[in-house]
Amino acid sequence: MTEKTDQEKKAHILVVDDDEIIRIAASESLTEAGFQVTEAENGIQALQVLEDIRPDIILLDVMMPEMDGFATARAVRQRAGFEMIPILIMTALDDLESINRAYEAGATDFITKPINWVILVQRVRYMTRSVQIMNAQKRLQAELQQAQKLEAVATLVGGLAHDFNNLLHVILSSAELIQLNHPNLDRPSGGLGDITEAVDRGSKLVRQLLTYSRKIKSEKRPIHLNDRVQQVTQLLQRTIPKMIEIECRLNEDLNWVSADSIQMEQVLMNLAINAKDAMPNGGRLVIETANVEGSENVGLPPSTPDSLGWVRLTVSDNGHGMEKETRRQVFEPFFSTKAPGKGTGLGLSMVHGIIQNHDGKIVCRSTPGQGTAFHIYLPAVEIAQENARPAEKQNRVGGNEILLLVDDDETTLNTGKKQLEKAGYTVITATDGEKALKIYNAQKDAIDLILLDLMMPGMGGANCLQALLRLDPEVKVIITSGHYPEGQRLQIIEECARACLHKPDPSSRLLAAIRNVLDANASAAPSSATSTESPRPNRASDAA
Ligand SMILES: Nc1ncnc2c1ncn2[C@@H]1O[C@H](COP(=O)(O)OP(=O)(O)OP(=O)(O)O)[C@@H](O)[C@H]1O
Ligand SMILES: [Mg+2]
Repeated sequence: MTEKTDQEKKAHILVVDDDEIIRIAASESLTEAGFQVTEAENGIQALQVLEDIRPDIILLDVMMPEMDGFATARAVRQRAGFEMIPILIMTALDDLESINRAYEAGATDFITKPINWVILVQRVRYMTRSVQIMNAQKRLQAELQQAQKLEAVATLVGGLAHDFNNLLHVILSSAELIQLNHPNLDRPSGGLGDITEAVDRGSKLVRQLLTYSRKIKSEKRPIHLNDRVQQVTQLLQRTIPKMIEIECRLNEDLNWVSADSIQMEQVLMNLAINAKDAMPNGGRLVIETANVEGSENVGLPPSTPDSLGWVRLTVSDNGHGMEKETRRQVFEPFFSTKAPGKGTGLGLSMVHGIIQNHDGKIVCRSTPGQGTAFHIYLPAVEIAQENARPAEKQNRVGGNEILLLVDDDETTLNTGKKQLEKAGYTVITATDGEKALKIYNAQKDAIDLILLDLMMPGMGGANCLQALLRLDPEVKVIITSGHYPEGQRLQIIEECARACLHKPDPSSRLLAAIRNVLDANASAAPSSATSTESPRPNRASDAA
């Protein structure tokens, strides 16, 4: 679906005058200046024209038979949707009383006859420009309000999902423990499989909510979006009905972006599936990438001399499109127009959360009956070779080292301890940061690794992490949290910890991360607790 910006569209002028010579002169001057013109011979005809078109400006004569310009202006103003349309009165009456009457009737400005057509064209240009600026401001204001609303919902959803996540973590760990203790229980009817399957479904839902509320970390590294598009397109070719044609228009010189590849694929999949759903009788799905420099009329922050601009990813379709009211709500969690059971309404809220997490912007343009386009903007970055993803290691799981497990939730602590002991580790537990510090201070030489929750009463996990690093700059800490802060606090945590995991990650992932960190080269330890250098190559989460 191609759309034109306000500037690209020809502004449409309705010229209302009973004098044919004036109408012709106005049409010629305005058409030559690049405007689209519709003519009406009198007020009644003008009101009929407004049934079918919505001009950007009305040029209105005053002295006309049947319905004069004052009455026409009043009638136009009373029409829904035309309350703000600029009306430029063309009048031979230059007395103050007539001018006041024109304003009272709803005129925006006036120009006196005989008309200087050069001045008229300039006046119309000025008015259309003002309207464009006003419309852009209104749109940005509406977007800001929407963004604030989404932010408030995200905070609420994030809090609920976090608590729910902790419950799932306990259920999953307990099920895994039972399975370990009774390996034959689940075959054929132990029900444990059902529990893990339900937890898996529950955690997918929670993950979507956490992604929406931006509590899920994005593993960002320089990537080439074209690769992700090609990857997803291959999958789509196999899964999307054949009557939908998929077209990729990829810019070969596309700039790099710093992004989480898996999340970018999720974004593409969600948008493509929505596009497919919008084209039940077939159609065309277009995925496009481009480098963008200006603000693109969508309120992108202006580029600075150092910035490399933006990379735009567009997913568009020529499906049934959306009404304004639907378009307004698309990013809200649980908003869906699909039949019950067909959609949870979380796809686009997740996409929105991911793009926010990447300091990007997503814009939806849609016209009922014509189609929809989602434009995503991500900041372009320089490629840094050292950030390339290290090859995944196949490590053994389990070991006989000593681990300190820190979590304020007793159930999590107990199930975690049992799980780690099953894998051969010796586990010491602490219920808050203060106790963890005391234990580590006393047994520094014995403890090989610390598993630290972030959200705890007292000093909390982040402060504990920094205090641990002050005690021992070589300390190995893995953060296991269902909830991560944002901005600089997150950056510090990522710099200081050897790995950051999410609850409820399956135990296999936790065990792999522990092994990775324990086996990693000790020389790669952080040099200071507040280092803000780029991620260290030994982070287990990179490889796990
Ligand atoms: N390409 C599109 N064309 C038309 N309508 C769309 C398009 N994409 C999204 N929508 C509208 O936005 C709504 C929300 O989309 P979203 O992806 O968040 O949820 P969903 O597709 O309904 O459910 P799911 O959670 O399975 O993704 C959709 O129900 C649909 O009304
Ligand atoms: Mg969807």
